[in-house]
Amino acid sequence: MSAKTKILLFGATGYIGGSVLNRLLAHPKADTFEITTPVRSPEKAKLLEKLGVRTEVASLNNHDKVESLAANAHIIFNVANSDDLPAMIALLKGLRKAYETTGQLPILIHTSGTGEIAEPVQGKRAAEIVYSDVNIEQMKSIPPTAFHRNVDLAVIGADEQGYARTYIVIPGIVYGIARGPVFEAGISKPISINIPGLIKASLDRKRSGMVGPGKAVWPYVHIDDVADEYIVLFDRILTDPQSAGHGWEGYYFGENGHNSFYELGRAIGQALVDLGLADDAEPTSFTDEELAKYWGSVTAGSYSGTTCRCSADRARAIGWNPKYASADFLANVRPEMEMQWSIAQKKGEIDFSYERSLAELLDSSSAT
Ligand SMILES: NC(=O)c1ccc[n+]([C@@H]2O[C@H](COP(=O)([O-])OP(=O)(O)OC[C@H]3O[C@@H](n4cnc5c(N)ncnc54)[C@H](OP(=O)(O)O)[C@@H]3O)[C@@H](O)[C@H]2O)c1
Repeated sequence: MSAKTKILLFGATGYIGGSVLNRLLAHPKADTFEITTPVRSPEKAKLLEKLGVRTEVASLNNHDKVESLAANAHIIFNVANSDDLPAMIALLKGLRKAYETTGQLPILIHTSGTGEIAEPVQGKRAAEIVYSDVNIEQMKSIPPTAFHRNVDLAVIGADEQGYARTYIVIPGIVYGIARGPVFEAGISKPISINIPGLIKASLDRKRSGMVGPGKAVWPYVHIDDVADEYIVLFDRILTDPQSAGHGWEGYYFGENGHNSFYELGRAIGQALVDLGLADDAEPTSFTDEELAKYWGSVTAGSYSGTTCRCSADRARAIGWNPKYASADFLANVRPEMEMQWSIAQKKGEIDFSYERSLAELLDSSSAT
């Protein structure tokens, strides 16, 4: 390795990727890192450079660029897209090249999601199976057609073929308003995917909503805890690689408990009442018309009616100690709603374009 550890981070302008970047910038060994962040926006690239980060204006669709960047990195964080197989194939080509050129194993920390183990139950029941990331046979039993799985299998394949060490962080619902320099500089998106959509839909209909009776449960994990998880894993890989499982033993769930969508809906309803925006805190089921209106299709909207459970045993075994639990998950709703309400008032509308942009992906996933 050269004097500096070359880190390549895809997804720096995103919610999780921005949080990981903040941690890397504040890392005790930060002066030994050379961090490069490929981003699509030239304006954001300039802002990132002010934070001491190298940038490339590049899309994941530019496969030659993805490959050549990957071929020159020691450690890659992919926090951009869990489902872009062609981009992952290009990235892995780069890793193979790096290995063949240097003889050193490049590291890939990829991001997946627990949609991979979710069952489509329309909110009618909670998952019974608890997936543990230390149960290799159970992790291997997830069908190749599961959501996110095609990319995960390509990632694990690189480890099996011996030209890279691969690790997959697989969080449940990530929540909380992300904070830190990249968010304050307006570079990265401070809010997550699932809960903002449910909050905005509830604001629009002036009543909290859920899919079906809301009995489906999902694992949750706070954004600060997720960022810590990546860094705990990264530190292990740097200092004691033998102790960090990789390949098939390299799945790292991110969860610190589970909540039902009814419980979440009740918290959303209470926040609506507290803010004087509704009279009744009790959530009601979304109609098909509402699911299509907010999420672009009934199928995509039904993602919040899927269910899964998991146990983040592997990350805890290497020292990850998440701090935020169920009470924090529910208490987070009020500040997120205040933020969304303030944005909506400024814009004069509640904007569902992000939710609708995910419709095609969710429609084609086996989770819904
Ligand atoms: N948030 C969660 O609760 C959660 C839980 C589990 C798994 N995940 C998965 O983790 C990944 C990151 O999640 P997130 O919440 O951080 O999402 P996000 O805030 O939407 O961030 C996505 C990031 O990826 C970048 N990106 C997407 N497509 C790209 C492309 N074609 N070329 C270049 N950059 C591209 C975005 O860049 P731009 O700024 O240019 O758009 C942004 O930096 C997603 O795949 C998501 O499914 C998320």
